[in-house]
Amino acid sequence: MLLTTIRQLWQPDIAIDLGTATFRVAVAHRRLPFSAPSTPASSCGGIVVPQALARGVVVDVEAAAEALRPILHYLRRRGLNQPRALACAPSDTTAQERAAVIETCRRAGVKDVVLMPEPVAAALGDGADYASTRPILLLDIGEGVTDCALIRQGRLVDAAACRVGCANLRAAVQKAVDRWCGIRLSDTEAIRLINRVGMGHSAEDASGMPPLRLVPIPDLSRTGDLPLPVGIVQEALRPVMGHMVMTVLSLLSTWPGLRRELAQEGGGADTGSGMRVSGGGALIPGVAEHMAAAIGLPVRAVRSPLGAVVQGARRVLPLVAGGDLWKELGDRP
Ligand SMILES: Nc1ncnc2c1ncn2[C@@H]1O[C@H](COP(=O)(O)OP(=O)(O)OP(=O)(O)O)[C@@H](O)[C@H]1O
Ligand SMILES: [Mg+2]
Repeated sequence: MLLTTIRQLWQPDIAIDLGTATFRVAVAHRRLPFSAPSTPASSCGGIVVPQALARGVVVDVEAAAEALRPILHYLRRRGLNQPRALACAPSDTTAQERAAVIETCRRAGVKDVVLMPEPVAAALGDGADYASTRPILLLDIGEGVTDCALIRQGRLVDAAACRVGCANLRAAVQKAVDRWCGIRLSDTEAIRLINRVGMGHSAEDASGMPPLRLVPIPDLSRTGDLPLPVGIVQEALRPVMGHMVMTVLSLLSTWPGLRRELAQEGGGADTGSGMRVSGGGALIPGVAEHMAAAIGLPVRAVRSPLGAVVQGARRVLPLVAGGDLWKELGDRP
């Protein structure tokens, strides 16, 4: 009885994913998460506001808290005052970086915060069975960080991360196009090109594909569409993807026998383990196929790439009894 009371006292009310691009908050009784851009709205209209997060970590606590406050304010108006939170952080974060996540949540109005590693949350959000001893390899390709984790029984066994993500893919395409024709693409246009080209084609395939139509930013010198060779985009993406692949390979190489175990489970099958990809990067066409060819294992995208982390954290809300969850779920032997 007393134990139940203590558990209820500690049980977090909300799950928080502070992403470099997007903040997501989920509550136990509502399936759909709330989301907000990580850059506060006041940055619109030409006012320069400090960037809240960079490469997966909070770099300006006040700016991050400012972006999170509207969601908590909305929840407060609906009776959720000073909630307790289960928040997620990349697996390679330092104690100081995790302290910044906790401080952000507190300043935004959260009473108590416990942390869990993002890729563990993503695997659970994809429906992974936390009682299973079978290995799960999960790769989260976010806006600012690519986080690869080996998970067993819902706990982080090992992880490798690189501070490279979708932002770097966009920047690489923007730089390549600028060099090719002197046009600075918007982020939206860069994402459009990345999605058109994808990662599923070989260089030979690409040479036979029709050029992309590039609508130039109106200026005095250029009118109409510009034909952009597909290979320009493909070449720009390759080295950034290469970083992500290396992150996975470095983790695989430290666990002899893991490949065999992952392959035996059938990898991409819904019920099996194997590599799963989450985060915005999982939405780029052909990413799973590209990764599968590069690491030599079956790969599939999780069912809800953008929401997996916060949904996984939401799923374990009833099981969290406070304490140092990072130690329980995140500390590696
Ligand atoms: N449909 C899509 N197709 C391709 N890319 C997409 C799509 N939707 C989002 N993205 C990319 O994913 C990025 C955001 O991914 P995600 O939400 O996983 O990042 P985050 O969680 O905010 O960042 P991080 O986990 O690195 O801190 C976007 O900025 C965009 O570049
Ligand atoms: Mg993320």
